[in-house]
Amino acid sequence: MMIEQADRLKALPPYLFAELDRMKAEVAAKGIDIISLGVGDPDLPTLPNIIDSLKKAVDNPAHHQYPSYEGMLSFREEIARWYKSRFGVNLDPAGEIVSLIGSKEGIAHAPLAFINPGDVVLCPDPGYPVYSIGTMFAGGETYVMPLVEENLFLPDLSAIPADILDRARIMFLNYPNNPTSAVANMGFFEEVVAFAEKNNILVCHDAAYTEVYYDGELPLSFLEIPGAKEVGIEFHSLSKTYNMTGWRIGWVCGNEAAVGAIGKVKTNIDSGIFQVVQEAGIEALQGDQQPVEDLRNIYQSRRDLACDFLSKGGYSFMVPKATFYIWVRTPEGLSSAQFAGRILTETGVVLTPGNGFGEHGEGYFRISLTVNEERLSEALDRIGTVSW
Ligand SMILES: Cc1ncc(COP(=O)(O)O)c(C=O)c1O
Repeated sequence: MMIEQADRLKALPPYLFAELDRMKAEVAAKGIDIISLGVGDPDLPTLPNIIDSLKKAVDNPAHHQYPSYEGMLSFREEIARWYKSRFGVNLDPAGEIVSLIGSKEGIAHAPLAFINPGDVVLCPDPGYPVYSIGTMFAGGETYVMPLVEENLFLPDLSAIPADILDRARIMFLNYPNNPTSAVANMGFFEEVVAFAEKNNILVCHDAAYTEVYYDGELPLSFLEIPGAKEVGIEFHSLSKTYNMTGWRIGWVCGNEAAVGAIGKVKTNIDSGIFQVVQEAGIEALQGDQQPVEDLRNIYQSRRDLACDFLSKGGYSFMVPKATFYIWVRTPEGLSSAQFAGRILTETGVVLTPGNGFGEHGEGYFRISLTVNEERLSEALDRIGTVSW
């Protein structure tokens, strides 16, 4: 029998990293040691207190049954406490927070809650690909908001045409930003709140990286802005803050009706997060936060090492204030794929070509700081041996 894929799968954009994966296999087959600066996955393990709390919780038979789709109230109360202490934002744990199986799950499902066929979703480009793919799966149309360096990688809201605004239902934003590492300031978020109110567009802010920041400059939550809860929701996650990418735990919070709509989708699709993992999530948020500060210092020292190398090598980039990414222009005349391809084949170092994040990522590459300093130095030395 011929298995025919649905049109929505056939319509997926081509996998841009296929050629790079093929080259990587070829390089590895030659016995060359590969160093990957390609993935956004913390290299260090989850903290011991979090692991211990999971071990304890697993012995409780109450946790062996189906969890509630919206998450344990005790987990949501802990999230509300953390939002208040970190951002000064008040959230009602009963109605304004729903737990997610990682923030990716909620981001991918959000368009199902708000988008009818033909509706428009405003998506940043370059950006996390799930925004536009979730949109497409829900039958929506993506309108690309270019993030360009001249505008500090913030979208120009005034450039969105009136006919698009008429059809737009939601807007995805992500600060601190993957892949550009840009941070949004209060003025931009205020502009977003006013824009959303005026045009009746729900803001879906992805805040996965707010805790990976440098030089003591704390990034904002979108919900800190007066009026934000009237027009928006925020996706958050324990993945990057606590080295918990494999645990699959996050949440969406903010506007009660919007959070409820995502919850309604979830009741029909999944059955929540394993309660043992939620117990560990409570421990992550309420336990000692010094290790998170230590982690920031580790990333900061890696960032400084990489930025020093890039400056000396004459590369053009903005020094990241947050995230564990550096977004760098390729040398004059080289496309993202040409640059990443040559670095990989000649040095065994994997970098992410910027066009993998959308057409406006062309001409850039992304360095991920998720290897230790020794390996990072080795990778940078190798990159330095390639002449252009
Ligand atoms: C911008 C952004 N948002 C969301 C996620 C998803 O994180 P998780 O599903 O682990 O919470 C990622 C993961 O790389 C990301 O880069």
